Formats: sequence, C-alpha cells, structure tokens
Amino acid sequence: MTERTLVLIKPDGVARNLVGDIIGRIERKGLTLVALELKQVSDELARGHYAEHEGKPFFDSLLEFITSGPLVAAVVEGPRAIAAWRQIAGGTDPVEKAVPGTIRGDFALVTQENLVHGSDSPESAEREIALWFPGLD
Ligand code: CMP
Repeated sequence: MTERTLVLIKPDGVARNLVGDIIGRIERKGLTLVALELKQVSDELARGHYAEHEGKPFFDSLLEFITSGPLVAAVVEGPRAIAAWRQIAGGTDPVEKAVPGTIRGDFALVTQENLVHGSDSPESAEREIALWFPGLD
C-alpha cells in the first residue's frame, strides 16, 4: 500500500553535513521525495510537532534543540513508507536500539541528537504532513 511519511533531518544532521547521505539512503531504499524544504523552525511549529511529548522531562531541551538551527523537512512516498523510513532511521536510542547499518546506528550517540524523525503511524503521518506542508496535494 502506498503511504506518505514525514521525514525530518534535525539540526544536528544539517550541522554535520549528513543531509546528502541521509537523502541518498531514502532514495536508494526506493522511497520517492514529494516535498523537501530547508527551514528554521519556529517555537510554535516545534511545540505543535512535539505536542505529545509536552510535560516530559526532556521537552524543553527538545524544543531548544529542534529550533537551534535549520533542519530539513520532507515528505516521502512509497509502499509501507512509514515503516520503511523507521527501519532505515533505526530506533530512537541510537546505541541501545538502533543497529549498525541504520542512520542512527551508524551516526548518532545520544537519544536527543538522533539526527532524524519519522512519523510513527498513519494518523501521525497525516497530522505531521498537514502541519509541515499545509496545502500539499
Ligand atoms: P523523535 O523520533 O523525533 O521523537 C521525539 C524526540 O524526542 C526523539 O526523536 C528524540 O530526539 C527526543 N527524545 C526522546 N526520548 C528522549 C529522552 N529520553 N531524552 C532526550 N530526548 C529524547
């Protein structure tokens, strides 16, 4: 089934010049880019995106991190795109969960600066794509 998912390459990925590598992995997997933008995220957009984490101990630090510099937001499409992107991203904790060969497993060390984000369900994907790319067909 063809799906769409939101991809974020977080400020650490942009600062470390990993955008090309990460986009390359997405494309080599067979997923197709349907939207792509480099942007500085506002506090309002960051709060909307991470609303489910409000109140958690890492929330303020997460907002500060995600607004600390430009990030890349994209929408990718393909069969089982949500699970496929989460597979190549690797688990949230880049050491305990992400395995070598995944983006986080290969390039990240700590849970906050974990380079990328992917929607975790069709409902999240729909909400997040509408938030980041309003008006996308
Ligand atoms: P992401 O997949 O974007 O979803 C929520 C983000 O919060 C996560 O990636 C991490 O960047 C961050 N995060 C999740 N858990 C923790 C944690 N325990 N400590 C710090 N940051 C976290």
